[in-house]
Amino acid sequence: MCGIVGYIGEQDATSILVEGLNKLEYRGYDSAGVALYDQGEINVVKKVGKLDELEDLVEEEQPQGQVGIGHTRWATHGKPSTPNSHPHQSNNQEFVVVHNGIIENYAEIKKELKEKGYNFASETDTEVIPNLIEEYYEDDLETTVRKIVDRLDGSYALAVMSKAEPDKLVAVRQDSPLIVGLGDGENFIGSDIPAILKHTDEVYILDDGEMAVITADAVELSTTDGEAVEKDIFEVDWDPGMAEKSGYDHFMLKEIHEQPETVRRCITGRLNEADVHLDDVSLTAEQLEQYNKVYVVACGTAYNAGLVGKYAIENLARVPVEVDVASEFRYRDPIVDENTLVVVVSQSGETADTLAAVREAQDKGARVIGICNVVGSSIPREADDVIYIHAGPEIAVASTKAYIGMITVFYMLAIYFARKKDLLADEESKQLIKDMKALPDQIAGIIDNSEEKIKDLAAEYAQNENAFFIGRSVDNAVVQEGALKLKEISYIHAESYPAGELKHGTLALVEEGVPVIALATQPSVKEKTLSNVKEVKARGGVVTGVVFGGEEELEDLDYRFEIPETSEVLTSILSVVPLQLLAYYVAVERGCDVDQPRNLAKSVTVE
Ligand code: F6R
Repeated sequence: MCGIVGYIGEQDATSILVEGLNKLEYRGYDSAGVALYDQGEINVVKKVGKLDELEDLVEEEQPQGQVGIGHTRWATHGKPSTPNSHPHQSNNQEFVVVHNGIIENYAEIKKELKEKGYNFASETDTEVIPNLIEEYYEDDLETTVRKIVDRLDGSYALAVMSKAEPDKLVAVRQDSPLIVGLGDGENFIGSDIPAILKHTDEVYILDDGEMAVITADAVELSTTDGEAVEKDIFEVDWDPGMAEKSGYDHFMLKEIHEQPETVRRCITGRLNEADVHLDDVSLTAEQLEQYNKVYVVACGTAYNAGLVGKYAIENLARVPVEVDVASEFRYRDPIVDENTLVVVVSQSGETADTLAAVREAQDKGARVIGICNVVGSSIPREADDVIYIHAGPEIAVASTKAYIGMITVFYMLAIYFARKKDLLADEESKQLIKDMKALPDQIAGIIDNSEEKIKDLAAEYAQNENAFFIGRSVDNAVVQEGALKLKEISYIHAESYPAGELKHGTLALVEEGVPVIALATQPSVKEKTLSNVKEVKARGGVVTGVVFGGEEELEDLDYRFEIPETSEVLTSILSVVPLQLLAYYVAVERGCDVDQPRNLAKSVTVE
């Protein structure tokens, strides 16, 4: 949420900043800006709108410099507008700041500064920061930044530059991610790895309460209280090509096509003939017996992955699982203690509510397992155990490959628990593992067989303003994700229901031509779902089914997509794929901005 980039060195900073912002645009795309130091002046160029607006302005104004900072914004305080865009400057134009996060006490600071004669050009919380720096500055930027962060309540990742000390950038982190990239005669700041991945794979990951003073040749780390900090360099193992579209029209489509590889990478080295090995989780059978409840806590798509996790863990490991939205969990004094195992799920590893849930659960004595994608992000660093999904960078705002990775991990975790608890016989486990190993090729097969047909169907679905998704058992979890994907990128109002629940109210909305997507992949409840399909058909609904192949009796379906045979418990990894493709092609058909849907941003680091 909001992206930060910074550069100091000998190269042209403008192109490095704009290119970095390009890689970060998924974090926010309401406005963008850069500030560059050149010959005694700091030149700020910023513009409301997507990054190409800024690119045009930069082309026109040609700002120069070898040191600078940049920002792409997702509006919190103040509407998207050029004055509200970052970077923000102090009244005397000496100090320039970009900021991610929220300054909770900004109103009080703004009042105080106004009384001292400061003027404010924006409605943002951020603008108090450069002005506070101006107010406190004597002759040392580093010391001043230490003083002013002491005044700030809330969350912030800051990059600061000044006219007085143009040979350095200062970066500070509190509850909002920030990294420093290390180069040769040059150094970088990024809110996220893709911003600087093209230039370096060596980074320092700042922790809360830490700051960095960055020159072209050195990086000094310390706490905001002034104590020196030593930390290991983190080696990023992502390939820069992973953050490119590689010929696809959109990142989302590329990421859907990467899913066979995502599952393959996720299971590699973790499955043997009958058992699952999770290197980073060290739970004994006794500990597992002690847990009488599992809580899964997450937001959005990660929450939907948790619903599949509930089904898998309850089904295989026979322990009750409650799934909670992180923003609710943290504020409702959840019943959690040392006998509760808490599993938090987050692609970015930075979602503010999910991170707060980790702390809440640990405070109450629970052990926390994180299922995450971004290595070295906050949640993996704070959780007691981590299982990485290894999906590589996910750039599209709508999550696809991370979801598949998360549910793959849940299945492995469920088998791991079940085996430790002696609930899964060798033969049954071998079959599940064999079926898991077949999933990558099966996903590739579904994409190959259904993509063209889905494009045709999408043209028809794109005309609708409403759609319903139904399913039972694990299908009910998957349809929640199907509905979220469709609404967030195509803006069609989509709702999902347990198939048997439709007739308790929502069926009233089904009339001639209303699209209903029915998942019926569970042999044990398929007949029941098909009865619900008949209820929809009787009201004129147009039903698309996702079913196992080779089933003849599904004549009520107007369209059908088949998934290949697998264990009943594992179907979600396959059945979600046609739903993702449908959402994608409907959004394309409707002319929507697929990778950057309106009002959204990836990595929600504010509450
Ligand atoms: C939807 C989507 C969001 C995220 C949610 C949590 O496609 O991507 O709903 O799933 O914001 O993000 P993470 O997983 O980073 O915690």
